[in-house]
Amino acid sequence: MGGVRKTFDEWAQNGRAELMEEEHGGNVSKFLESISFDRPFTFLDVGCGNGWVVREIAKEENCKKSIGVDKSKKMIMQARKKIKSKKEEYIHADIESMKNREKFDFIFSMESLYYVDSIEIALKKIYKLLKPGGQFFCGTDFYTDNKATARWANMMKIQMHLHSKKEWKEFFENAGFNVKTKNIKDLKNKKKWKREYGTLFIIGIKSEK
Ligand SMILES: C[S@@+](CC[C@H](N)C(=O)[O-])C[C@H]1O[C@@H](n2cnc3c(N)ncnc32)[C@H](O)[C@@H]1O
Repeated sequence: MGGVRKTFDEWAQNGRAELMEEEHGGNVSKFLESISFDRPFTFLDVGCGNGWVVREIAKEENCKKSIGVDKSKKMIMQARKKIKSKKEEYIHADIESMKNREKFDFIFSMESLYYVDSIEIALKKIYKLLKPGGQFFCGTDFYTDNKATARWANMMKIQMHLHSKKEWKEFFENAGFNVKTKNIKDLKNKKKWKREYGTLFIIGIKSEK
């Protein structure tokens, strides 16, 4: 959908990419701190924006490769400008049509999956891109239970799929994942929804076999 690409091309140029990094940074860091990166691993960030998570993960000693994919060319250009390590790589593509290359131990996505044309197709692709035993961490602030964020769709005027926690779990299960969820709240934040609901992380685990 042209609107999504155009909107995020604009955000890449007007400072909103960095604003997202600031806005999402706290809860994402809190979540990632709970993940053990104690073995060599490869990582993919779907809808990586300016690449801030890709860069953070590349700092992990056991990280072999940290890749970001985004459908906005301007976001990918920003990310490439900020490259700090040889482990980083950025791909300009829709997740749905990204060429299957190597498979990943971890796939991550923050505030991106609800913009795709079809969540079912994107999840099927992400499932395929994971190694057996691999995990997909999907963070969203925009979900039905979090009533304050539901109005974002009117403000953005682009395609945004609004679903409840229960529906997100079902999407993941239908794609073949074992599923867990975690809400990361920011108890000191000025915004009520950040204190009361926070970021919903849906964790999809692909079976070993
Ligand atoms: C709200 S931004 C979040 C960026 C970043 N994850 C962050 O937290 O700062 C959503 C990003 O998802 C990207 N995106 C949307 N649909 C996509 C798709 N189908 N494939 C790849 N990227 C997509 C957009 O271009 C945009 O950069």
